[in-house]
Amino acid sequence: MNFQKVGIVGSGIMGSGIAEVVATAGATVILRSRTSQTADAVLVGLEKSLARKVAKQLHSHATANIIRSRVSATMEFADLADCDLIIESVVEDLDTKKMVFHELDQIMKPGTILTTNTSTLSVAGLATTISHPERVCGLHFFNPAQAMPLVEVVRPLSASDETVEAIIEFALACGKEPVEVKDQAGFVVNALLFPYLNHAVRLLGQEVATIEGIDIAMKGGCGFPMGPFALLDLIGLDTSVAILDALDVAFGDANFAPEPLLRQMVSEGKLGRKSGSGFYDYGQ
Ligand SMILES: NC(=O)c1ccc[n+]([C@@H]2O[C@H](COP(=O)([O-])OP(=O)(O)OC[C@H]3O[C@@H](n4cnc5c(N)ncnc54)[C@H](O)[C@@H]3O)[C@@H](O)[C@H]2O)c1
Repeated sequence: MNFQKVGIVGSGIMGSGIAEVVATAGATVILRSRTSQTADAVLVGLEKSLARKVAKQLHSHATANIIRSRVSATMEFADLADCDLIIESVVEDLDTKKMVFHELDQIMKPGTILTTNTSTLSVAGLATTISHPERVCGLHFFNPAQAMPLVEVVRPLSASDETVEAIIEFALACGKEPVEVKDQAGFVVNALLFPYLNHAVRLLGQEVATIEGIDIAMKGGCGFPMGPFALLDLIGLDTSVAILDALDVAFGDANFAPEPLLRQMVSEGKLGRKSGSGFYDYGQ
């Protein structure tokens, strides 16, 4: 592991999953969350996730305890000052991410590498907001971060070779399969995936089949592990709309304009698994 102390900003689905991945790989992790409740929730979630792995005999009790002891949470950006690497994973909104980058620029020690887990936004655009854009690149994990092998390593023109090489080495140390990609909206996976997900919502609107029917069709017909509606619920419908909006702006292609039903569900608070309901009900 080439980074001893790793900061993570954002305690949502991805930030908490990445914390477990990085701690399991051997680094000390400090996760910055806006409230003590969400910070505590990350630590409780980590304990539950590790307990599941112990039950499945993927970790011993001792290993799970060591991994748990490596992770702490804070509400202060200043507590990330001595991190060797910081991974930003807040909501997919350019202004919010710029605000976070600005805060981090005030406190990062010299030499720290800053990465973003953005799904679609310009990494170069974020890099310009800090003093050392050569130390910024994209490190795009997939959901759930603990289980998905791929990470996209996004190389903006501003990034130094040393930065990109260090992040590829880090990804490998985390047990991931890194693929270097150009700093273009959606990179590889989301540029290909989101027109498909959006089209599934359109087919639903055209009453071609039910939610369950479309999911069964894509699993049984294409060998996908889950159908488009289960996947949209897993990603989060708010995040999905943000990704489609960014792709629409970048490419001006009608396939990327979010289907109205997606926006309507977000406005009703139906965000998918994380809110307890989306296309499916999760009984929370
Ligand atoms: N959900 C996925 O499947 C997925 C996969 C890969 C990458 N991503 C990316 O990861 C990032 C986080 O997504 P997520 O799914 O964890 O989202 P989420 O909704 O689960 O969590 C968002 C996080 O952002 C924080 N946040 C919101 N507004 C903020 C603000 N004004 N200031 C600081 N923090 C704020 C929230 O408190 C929360 O911790 C996004 O860039 C997203 O595109 C998501």
